[in-house]
Amino acid sequence: MTIRPIKSQLIVHQEQPFNAEPAGNLLRQSFLTPQQHFFIRTHGSIPAVDPTGYRLTVTGMVQRKRELSLDELRSISPSHTVTATLECAGNRRDELMAVKPISGEVPFRAGAISTAKWRGVPLREVLRAVGVEADARYVTFTSLDEAQFEGEKVSYGSSIALEKAFSPDVLLAYEMNDEPLALEHGFPLRVIVPGYIGARSVKWLREITLQEGPSTNPYQARDYKLFPPEITTQTVDWRRGKTIEDLILNAVITKPQEGEAVAAGSTCIQGYAIAGEGTPVERVELSVDGGKSWTTANIVERADPYAWCFWELTLTLSPGDCQMIVRAWDASKQTQPEDVTQLWNFKGYMNNAWHRVKIHLS
Ligand code: MTE
Repeated sequence: MTIRPIKSQLIVHQEQPFNAEPAGNLLRQSFLTPQQHFFIRTHGSIPAVDPTGYRLTVTGMVQRKRELSLDELRSISPSHTVTATLECAGNRRDELMAVKPISGEVPFRAGAISTAKWRGVPLREVLRAVGVEADARYVTFTSLDEAQFEGEKVSYGSSIALEKAFSPDVLLAYEMNDEPLALEHGFPLRVIVPGYIGARSVKWLREITLQEGPSTNPYQARDYKLFPPEITTQTVDWRRGKTIEDLILNAVITKPQEGEAVAAGSTCIQGYAIAGEGTPVERVELSVDGGKSWTTANIVERADPYAWCFWELTLTLSPGDCQMIVRAWDASKQTQPEDVTQLWNFKGYMNNAWHRVKIHLS
């Protein structure tokens, strides 16, 4: 079954490769994002895979190499479900682009994030079934898609360390929100690595390889690394970048939207917040006076440890221009950086500065 995104409700940044995010307040309409509204991040083609002929290769440093059909995969272990948010490392890149240009990257707003209930086979059960050799340290994933990386034809790929791969919640997923994966989201099988940036959750999975080192695929070895602000495309030494894995604390206002005209008086403000695994969001705060004073919002829905939380707050606001600011605190008592200019990096990753929305109240 294929569910095409309802394009009229998505902001389509690019048709080829297809990159889109839900517009406006759509993201905040339901805690589990319907597939039609789920953001889409692709680096290459969206392959149409025949599920009957599909085989997953498991190879490398394993005792029993396997070619698994979908039925064989499902017979390895009972299915497991995990509610997890996928967030692209490039979420909120548009704000970094406003600080200084970033070339060749998708100008995602604050919608490169969505949440689903994923069902699949735990990766660790597959690893147990094939027997991992003692010296293996990484699990690499390769896709069936086709992308262009600096003029070279490659398939998307990534890797995670073996310890993470043995978490019971890392899945080879075939369903999201009780439906088969849509084509755009990796049908018939994708990896879900809860707690990590979306880049590690490889779609249209073709091969799993156990090896001593991380994947040499350019989307692991070069992309999705964090560099200091002085580094540019011209000066970069890719080996020196810090590989991005864990999600970080972030909070966003989804309602009202930037530039919206709102009636003065009692105003409902809503949004999402997310934190790294093991340090859940503890408090979300709003300021309407430039950060001098803050009011605590109510967290109205959450599904720790891998999902975002939804928050809201009703404030009485006077007529005129108003800038709303949100920030979150996590269980380790850390909060977000104030100033986006301090976070600029030439790939535009990991913007978690205070989120600001300007509106006019009349
Ligand atoms: N898997 C493949 N095969 N190709 C891709 O381009 N993009 C990755 C990841 N898995 C990608 C992929 C990135 S960067 C993200 S953020 C997530 O998929 C997005 O998943 P979604 O499109 O289902 O939201």
